[in-house]
Amino acid sequence: MAQNIDTALNEARRLHARRDYDGALGAYAAILAADPSRLDALDPLVAILEMARTPAFHPRLAALIESALALPGANTEALTQSATHQLALKYRMADPQQAPARDLLLAMARDGLMLSTLSNCIVRDTTFESFMCRVRRALCVKDAPVAFRPLVLALARQADNNEYLWPQDEQDAAALGALGDDAYAVACRAMYSRVDAGASTDPDLAQFVAILTGLREKVRAAETRIPALAPLADTTSREVGAMYEENPYPRWLNLRRIQPFDIRAELSQRFAFAGPFPVFAQPLRVLMPGAGTGQHPLSVAANYANVEVEAIDLSLASLAYGLTMAMELGIANIHFAQADILDLPKLGSSWGHAESIGVLHHMADPKAGLAAICEVVVPGSFVRLGLYGEHARAVIVEARDAITRYGYKSDLPGLRAFRADVMAGKLGERLKRELPQWADFHSASLLRDLCFHVMEHRYDIAKLRALLAGLPLRFLGFDFSFGHAAARTEDVPALRAYAKKFPKETSFSDLADWEAIERADPALFGGYQFWLVRT
Ligand SMILES: C[S@@+](CC[C@H](N)C(=O)[O-])C[C@H]1O[C@@H](n2cnc3c(N)ncnc32)[C@H](O)[C@@H]1O
Repeated sequence: MAQNIDTALNEARRLHARRDYDGALGAYAAILAADPSRLDALDPLVAILEMARTPAFHPRLAALIESALALPGANTEALTQSATHQLALKYRMADPQQAPARDLLLAMARDGLMLSTLSNCIVRDTTFESFMCRVRRALCVKDAPVAFRPLVLALARQADNNEYLWPQDEQDAAALGALGDDAYAVACRAMYSRVDAGASTDPDLAQFVAILTGLREKVRAAETRIPALAPLADTTSREVGAMYEENPYPRWLNLRRIQPFDIRAELSQRFAFAGPFPVFAQPLRVLMPGAGTGQHPLSVAANYANVEVEAIDLSLASLAYGLTMAMELGIANIHFAQADILDLPKLGSSWGHAESIGVLHHMADPKAGLAAICEVVVPGSFVRLGLYGEHARAVIVEARDAITRYGYKSDLPGLRAFRADVMAGKLGERLKRELPQWADFHSASLLRDLCFHVMEHRYDIAKLRALLAGLPLRFLGFDFSFGHAAARTEDVPALRAYAKKFPKETSFSDLADWEAIERADPALFGGYQFWLVRT
């Protein structure tokens, strides 16, 4: 059987490589039908579905997306946009004539893809969101049919997923106010704000609220189990930590799993031009400075073979979410601790690999942070960093200016007001057009991190060179990969530009060259993720 599946997988990969996406989808789906645990079929299937856009509703794609969303380990974040795209087409959400009439509500309440998307994803499509806000209000009626309930519950789960960020107005308040206090009314309120356990006699809602409350209690309890390695002394670290105590980042619900692979072997091969690299004892000790809520550290713990992960962060609330999710997902090769990156050298331990994405640019002195990481990884370690790009964030700078000018607060009402004004075009056409395309625009914690941060630096490649100068690190290359396979030059405009201008520099690893490429076309970089080796 396994052999048959391996043969089928080879065939699916061959179709995929030939860009026969229809054929590959069918082949991967057939493998998953035979064995839903095959992550090596699930992840590429999701990668194809993620890109799929059709001019009209496509029932086969919708069915495939719905089945993929149900599989443990599926990258649900990658599926969200395709799911809402299909649903928006199916229910003609972009049509201004379309009204959330009773028949439509009943159809949605029976629609597996609709229910699963709302329940398992953070929606990132404003057409879908606006229409579903009208649906939400239309559901708030007395004597509603029982058949509405699954949709109400799914919208309540979406509200929790996006941390109650969707807009709400007086008409919503009036609709809710007219409902009374029965179980259905409580369920309707859960679409707008957090409901306490015990507030509802509706068994499905009570079960959902109990799960939510239970998870929150577990997270609170987990805080007491996270050791603090040293008191937070640095002023900026305390300020930044306080922000993430209120709004842990990232808000995430599901962990993408892939077939575990040996990261050191993979990188040693990818960057062979800079080797040979020393062989390290296993398990590989991986440091994750600025672990946040654990999504990245847990994916490292689960998807890299034979590693032990140390996840450190300033924010207890963030780490506690990570620890809770580790327990829920049964991932044991990870340890969480509260610490400032600046204090790492004091802790007297060393690691053989480090990854820190979206962190150093939130420190007062990112170079001091990077120097501290260098001190605790042994020579030959690979280090992966992710930093904001000045060019890519020009629109965020515009948003931050508007936030300062008009005094939006960073609490939930302030976030909602800012977001509603952006979507209504009150802060200008550019923000209206571009900001909703950032994934982080669509939950409260994500939005706070995106536009309301108390400390951020932004880089271009000249500044990257200054950051690295004088530290015991060698630049190996930008990470344009999807999944863990290195990206192909022909698929990445920045790599194509480099290959054209510097055909002899086949390793793509000279930052001075990259600086010239960026100067000619700053739009080539959406930000910077790159690999270094500790020298
Ligand atoms: C934008 S989040 C990124 C989280 C995670 N790396 C990710 O990519 O999902 C930044 C995280 O860095 C943490 N952080 C910022 N400065 C830090 C410092 N000096 N020491 C430790 N963690 C820090 C914050 O508390 C926050 O959780």
